[in-house]
Amino acid sequence: MQNIKLDLSYTGITEKEISKYATKVKKIYNKLNEISEDENEFVGWLKLPSNYDKKEFSKIKKIAKKIRKESEVFVVIGIGGSYLGARAVIESLTSNFANMFPDKIRKSPQIFFVGNSISPNYINELIDCIGNKDISINVISKSGTTTEPAIAFRIFREFLENKYGADEAANRIYVTTDKKKGALKELADQEEYETFVIPDNIGGRFSVLTAVGLLPIAVAGIDIDKLMEGAKNAECNYSDDSIKYNQCYRYAVVRNILYQKDKTIEILANYEPKLHYFTEWWKQLYGESEGKGHKGIFPAGVDLSTDLHSMGQYIQDGKRNLFETVINVEETKTDIKIKRDEDNVDGLNFLAGKTMDYVNKKAMQGTIEAHVSGGVPNIIINIKKLDEETIGELIYFFELACAVSGNILGVNPFDQPGVEAYKNNMFRLLEKPGYEKERPDVRS
Ligand code: PA5
Repeated sequence: MQNIKLDLSYTGITEKEISKYATKVKKIYNKLNEISEDENEFVGWLKLPSNYDKKEFSKIKKIAKKIRKESEVFVVIGIGGSYLGARAVIESLTSNFANMFPDKIRKSPQIFFVGNSISPNYINELIDCIGNKDISINVISKSGTTTEPAIAFRIFREFLENKYGADEAANRIYVTTDKKKGALKELADQEEYETFVIPDNIGGRFSVLTAVGLLPIAVAGIDIDKLMEGAKNAECNYSDDSIKYNQCYRYAVVRNILYQKDKTIEILANYEPKLHYFTEWWKQLYGESEGKGHKGIFPAGVDLSTDLHSMGQYIQDGKRNLFETVINVEETKTDIKIKRDEDNVDGLNFLAGKTMDYVNKKAMQGTIEAHVSGGVPNIIINIKKLDEETIGELIYFFELACAVSGNILGVNPFDQPGVEAYKNNMFRLLEKPGYEKERPDVRS
């Protein structure tokens, strides 16, 4: 079963152009497949849905249950790939207002994400918001040394120790990190925190279907068996080596053809606010994987129709270096019928009897047509509905497409050498030992 359908009819790209990539994508997939079990390559995500560690998975479910029982608040500490996947899935599949329901009604702990900035305000305000509630924390860092989560963890560890004492705090701290190395692993061993492993051959931005994403997702009450089932369907569907039928390859190829035609910015557009963080996850996946060697499509995102009232003008009429990828959720979870109003002062009676989802879909169709005629090719990704299976499938779809696309572009999609530059400068400015190098001359 495929819950994702790709529509390329608004791209202006022909079947002939796509088919030229047939041999190339087949070779790329075969290579990925060949190295997928190699501990030294970062391709462990390729077979993960069919080959994940079942013992670790059961432990995730067991601990998630414990956390749900013991905690009113669950704080997830992490940044980049150690944060965005969990937030993307949780926000796609739970209420927009999940954290705001009164405690008596809510079935899951409030989930807050921290350690993804260095803002003291954010942490102080979160601590004020938590107040006296019972809390557990999950600190996630593959390297175990990333500054933002490390600072947040130091603060929250102290918060827990002050609140519960060292022993009970240790019972409420969960660590997701490398199986052997890093400062976080060392600390977890020393304090005997419960730990979860990030496999060596899965990089941060490809790690949502490991404990990195799965523990917070399970704590949110989301069915992680179904999520993995969806990803497994995708793993099976997208191993088809025919470029004619493999939608994942087709997406990867078409975005590269558009890039060759100077469409250097891809905007991921959604018409469902629940997908805001899915877009953030996608931006990180593609930005960090492809932006290298002065190459790569710049991944941007818009929430529509909201951003039609801010970015709409640019998309319609600004520099023509854009293409758009629209995620269309075919079936809405709930709907509202617009009623007739006797006075009709707002002039909306022409919509009476129609549903909001119907109007949303028409807004989408109208926007696609407007943008395409304004010179912005549109790729449409139709997904069935927002449920665990579909989101699992979509995650895998974008991960594989990203790996294929990066290889077509000629970059290594699995490293991120560029992110070191700011860190080196920051550490030098903070006088971290070992970083006392001369200041680079960047001003004229
Ligand atoms: O995708 C990546 O590799 C990065 O975005 C990392 O996830 C991010 O930098 C956080 O790293 P770590 O998990 O080591 O703290």
